[in-house]
Amino acid sequence: MSTFQAPKGTYDLTPPRSATFLAVREAIAAPLRDSGYGYIETPGFENVELFARGVGESTDIVTKEMYTLTTKGGDQLALRPEGTASVLRAALEANLHKAGNLPVKLWYSGSYYRYERPQAGRYRHFSQVGAEAIGTEDPVLDAELIILADQAYRSLGLRQFRILLNSLGDKECRPVYREALQTFLRDLDLDEETRRRIEINPLRVLDDKRADVQKQLTDAPKLRDYLCDACKAYHEEVRALLTAAGVVFEDDEKLVRGLDYYTRTTFEFVHDGLGAQSAVGGGGRYDGLSEMIGGPELPSVGWALGVDRTVLALEAEGIELDLPYTTSVYAVPLGEEARRVLFGVVTGLRRAGIAADFAFGGRGLKGAMKSANRSGARYTLVAGERDLAEGVVQLKDMESGEQNAVPLTEVAAELAKRLG
Ligand code: HAM
Repeated sequence: MSTFQAPKGTYDLTPPRSATFLAVREAIAAPLRDSGYGYIETPGFENVELFARGVGESTDIVTKEMYTLTTKGGDQLALRPEGTASVLRAALEANLHKAGNLPVKLWYSGSYYRYERPQAGRYRHFSQVGAEAIGTEDPVLDAELIILADQAYRSLGLRQFRILLNSLGDKECRPVYREALQTFLRDLDLDEETRRRIEINPLRVLDDKRADVQKQLTDAPKLRDYLCDACKAYHEEVRALLTAAGVVFEDDEKLVRGLDYYTRTTFEFVHDGLGAQSAVGGGGRYDGLSEMIGGPELPSVGWALGVDRTVLALEAEGIELDLPYTTSVYAVPLGEEARRVLFGVVTGLRRAGIAADFAFGGRGLKGAMKSANRSGARYTLVAGERDLAEGVVQLKDMESGEQNAVPLTEVAAELAKRLG
C-alpha cells in the first residue's frame, strides 16, 4: 500500500473538482433554505442503539454496514450511516417539536459511512444533503419535499433522472399485506438467507436483484391491493399535487427502500447514466420512527440526496457547472520592495471584498504571469522598482490584454469600479 492512498472505498475531494461538489451542495440546499427549512448539524457518530432501533435490526445497513466502535469509556458508538435517525434524535432532545411550530423543517449536509463493497458510485464514505419535516401528516408536505428535490436537480441542469413513487401503507394495512406476502414467499424456492428475510422483513425480498428470484415474484400479492382507504386517499393526494406542480413521476410498487422506518409515501430519484448505483436520492414518510426511538408520535417525512452520485450524474450528462473563477485580481511583484507594497495592496483589496491572490516565492515575471493566467483572474497588478518610484502599478486587463499605469493610491477604487 502506498503511503499516499485514501482508505479503501473513500476518495478525496481536491480542486478543481471539489468546486463542483460545493456547488452541488449549495444547489440542493438553496431551495430548502428558501422554503423554511432551518440548518441542523449533528455529531458524526451516535449510540449504536439509535440506528439499530431506528434504521432497523434486519437491514443491511445495521447488520453489515455500520462502522461500530467501543470507546475507552465503554460506550457503543457507530459512525452515522444516514441522517434521519440522528436529526430526529436531535430535534427531540432540543424539544423543537414543542416550540409550537409544526412541522419542524430542517436541512443538513454532511458525511455518512457505510461499510459496503466499493464500486463506481458506491463508497464507504459519502456525502448527503438532506431534509426532514417533522411532526405533521399532510400530503402537501410530502409533495413539497419531492418538488424541492426536483427543483434542485433541475437547477443543476440535470434532465436524465426519474422519480419513482410508492406507498408502503401504514400500521393498519401493512401488517395484513406482510402476512399475505409471507404466505406467498414461503412456498417459493429460495436460499436460506432469503428464507430468513421472509420472516424478518418480507418486503425486502421484493427488492432482490437476482433474475431467478424476480421470476418467482411475478404473482406476488401487491401492496397496492392491500392499502387501506386512508393510505389510498393520502397517496392519491400526493400524486395529484405532484401532477399539478408539473413534476413527472413513475409509480413503482417494487420500491421498498433499504431502511425499515418508512410508512406510506416512499420515493427514489434515479439517474439513467449511472449504471448499477443509479439512486441519486431517496426518502419518504416515517410516521413511526419517533416512537421507535422512544419519542412521542410525530409523523414525519424527508429525503437525502447523495452529493457524490449527483456529481457523477452531472458528469454522465456532460454538464459543466458555470463556476466563476474565485480570484479577480492577481498581483505580481518584481523585487523585494514591490513584494511588500503589492502585498499591502492585496490585503487592502481583500478587506474591501475583492478576491485577490499573490505571486508568492519571488518568482520571475514569466512564471508569475503563468500563475496569474491559471488563477483565472480578470486583472493582474504588476509592479517593479521603476513603477514604485513613480508611485504607480501596471494594471492589466487579462481579457483585452490592455495595460495601463494606475496610481497606487487609486488602485483599489479603480478595481472596485471595473469589477462592478
Ligand atoms: P438512502 O437511500 O440510504 O436514504 O441514501 C440516500 C442517498 O445517499 C442515496 O440515494 C445515494 O445517492 C446516497 N448514498 C447512499 N449510500 C451511498 C454510498 N455507499 N455511496 C455513495 N452514495 C450513497 C437515506 O439515507 C435516508 N436517511 C433518506 C431519508 C431522509 N429518508 C427520510 N428522510
